[in-house]
Amino acid sequence: MADLDDIRDGDNFGLNSPADTSKFYLKGMNSMPWGLKNRMSRIFNRKSGRTVMLAFDHGFLMGPTSGLERIDLNIAPLAEHADCLMGCRGTIRTMIPAENTQPVCLRADTGTTILTEMNHNVLLGEEEMISMNASALAAMISIGDAATESKTIANFSRLVDLGNKYDIPVMCVTAVGKDMARDARYFGLASRVGAENGASIVKTYYTEGFENVVAATPVPVVIAGGKKLPEIEALEMAYNAIQCGAAGVDMGRNVFQSEAPVAMIKAVSGVVHDGLKPAEGLELFETLKNEA
Ligand code: R5P
Repeated sequence: MADLDDIRDGDNFGLNSPADTSKFYLKGMNSMPWGLKNRMSRIFNRKSGRTVMLAFDHGFLMGPTSGLERIDLNIAPLAEHADCLMGCRGTIRTMIPAENTQPVCLRADTGTTILTEMNHNVLLGEEEMISMNASALAAMISIGDAATESKTIANFSRLVDLGNKYDIPVMCVTAVGKDMARDARYFGLASRVGAENGASIVKTYYTEGFENVVAATPVPVVIAGGKKLPEIEALEMAYNAIQCGAAGVDMGRNVFQSEAPVAMIKAVSGVVHDGLKPAEGLELFETLKNEA
């Protein structure tokens, strides 16, 4: 058994010493193979080194929730404004036109819904990952959940094995543990577990002290948006995450539940890629909303 005696929280995150990106523009990718780097380059903008992923995978757990009733009407029109589309095979195949050229981050674990106990999942077959032309794969780990932690980490690790076989990057989606404090210590642990298990991208939640979460995660970190917030608050969250070193967002509800989703995704892009301050992002949002 691991020696748990005298575990000390990390307190030296080297915040003034950026990771070495001299051989490839994304953190932690220097030694990766060509195919993986090429796929990461489809997802992360070469100039900013960041991404605005659009998450619409909620339905496989929750059914047709608000904003996702009709992916063909609500999400397909947003696709061209996102850097990457994160969703499930069924909705992508049936409702995102095949002519779409945005890269796909395919949700690759499935098995349970909000009606039972979540995260007792299995993985899609590897043929599916190839035939969907995925630029990245995603699966969740539920850290701190006694019933599903080991299953989800094992699944995730297996997915990395499959991804590595074809040089497809794997994104680790860190679930919010029911009984866990939503703080930097918890999200830092979950994110690091994802990276230790081979993630090329980690998706987690913004929290105070996020710079430590990013610093201790050796691959690009993107944030989920979480529940719908007023636009200015969602833009502030994205801005603060970027200031802490995040490599972008994988945002769902704060985009597709906005009263003006195209305006919102463009405003988020402005903050993520173009260095807009939250107030400037909001101004862009209002202008685009009124023009529509
Ligand atoms: C988690 O399993 C999923 O990837 C979520 O669907 C995603 O994190 C939700 O995005 P948001 O919190 O921005 O709606």
